[in-house]
Amino acid sequence: MRFYRCLICGDPYMGSEKPSHCPFCGAHQQHMVSAADWVDENESMGELSDISRSNLEKALQLEVNNKAFYADASARADLVELQGIFKNLSKIEGEHASTIRKMLKVEPPAPEDDRKSASDSIHDNLEAAREREIFASSFYAQAAGEAVEERVKKVFNTLSEIESDHIQLETALLDRGL
Ligand SMILES: [Fe+2]
Ligand SMILES: [Fe+2]
Repeated sequence: MRFYRCLICGDPYMGSEKPSHCPFCGAHQQHMVSAADWVDENESMGELSDISRSNLEKALQLEVNNKAFYADASARADLVELQGIFKNLSKIEGEHASTIRKMLKVEPPAPEDDRKSASDSIHDNLEAAREREIFASSFYAQAAGEAVEERVKKVFNTLSEIESDHIQLETALLDRGL
């Protein structure tokens, strides 16, 4: 058994080999390192610029909202496969919120009421989820471009990539006729 750790979310993983993606935040394999080589990149980040702080605060609210939305979508799904997929997505967005919260050194906000509810339709929820992911992915790409700190740039670029994986997943599910 080996130990790996994610440079983005900081979570450790035990397994026989390095996973293709962080099982917690979804970061691609290049961000998983041997646990012995792991460093807390937040420690060398320094003081956040105003623009990065503002973008991270928006991102935190967005992740908290999407976590709640996916949890609701999972609870309402009448297909066991989608219960699992939405549950996994909820956990990943929760991990993103936790990653951002640690950079801001704040407690997470509550989800916004008008953004936390799903519907009873799997199709509608997949469409709504894809819209959320498209928004998040493009906002994070923009925030990465605006960031002056290497760490903030890296986290936003990685999050943008992960949300883009979610867009592809949801598109594939919709293409299946769900
Ligand atoms: Fe991770
Ligand atoms: Fe996310």
